[in-house]
Amino acid sequence: MIARLAGYAVGSLLQFRHVVIVHGAVRGWARIARRAPGAHLVLGNRVRLHRGVTVYLRAPGAIVRVGERTALGRRTEIHADTEVRIGSRCAVSWDVQFVDSDQHNLHGAAAGGVPIRVGDHVWIGQRSLILKGVRIGDGAVVAAGSVVTHDVPARALVAGSPARVIRMGVDWS
Ligand SMILES: CC(C)(COP(=O)(O)OP(=O)(O)OC[C@H]1O[C@@H](n2cnc3c(N)ncnc32)[C@H](O)[C@@H]1OP(=O)(O)O)[C@@H](O)C(=O)NCCC(=O)NCCS
Repeated sequence: MIARLAGYAVGSLLQFRHVVIVHGAVRGWARIARRAPGAHLVLGNRVRLHRGVTVYLRAPGAIVRVGERTALGRRTEIHADTEVRIGSRCAVSWDVQFVDSDQHNLHGAAAGGVPIRVGDHVWIGQRSLILKGVRIGDGAVVAAGSVVTHDVPARALVAGSPARVIRMGVDWS
């Protein structure tokens, strides 16, 4: 089942099937490629969804939240078994992937999803991959092509696979 949130939606609390728009307007549309029972996508005011953004609400009760004025770039994908929360005023570039579970079981490893939390005013470069359980602090920058497997401190610049801190105290616009 594929559902689309079309065009330019406006509402103070608009519920469009499983998509909830909180207090305002959303630009663009997201493809909901899977939708488990009770799962939701919650979009804040002035979220910008570029072409090809796809959200997988994979497990019952899964939730994806995108904060106000955050932009999700072309073909970015969010795969949620539990919760993926992206803060306000973030710039998520194109072809970024958020995946909050391994989706298969590696024997001997912990099974199941772990929520991903991205703070406010975070910039995530193109083709980065954000894996389960990662928390990214406010104001952080993730360089292009990074594979983020561990938490990122606030205002850190991380790069590489696995992503490592290469600078602290960064600012961006
Ligand atoms: C994050 C970014 C802006 C940082 O740029 P910068 O401050 O000029 O960084 P530098 O080029 O000085 O690199 C600093 C170090 O990090 C390394 N580095 C930079 N980007 C890297 C990356 N994507 N992956 C791995 N290492 C990287 C550099 O090789 C350098 O290492 P060194 O000191 O050992 O030589 C830039 O790396 C980047 O990712 N740009 C693309 C952002 C993007 O995707 N934009 C699309 C529109 S949203």
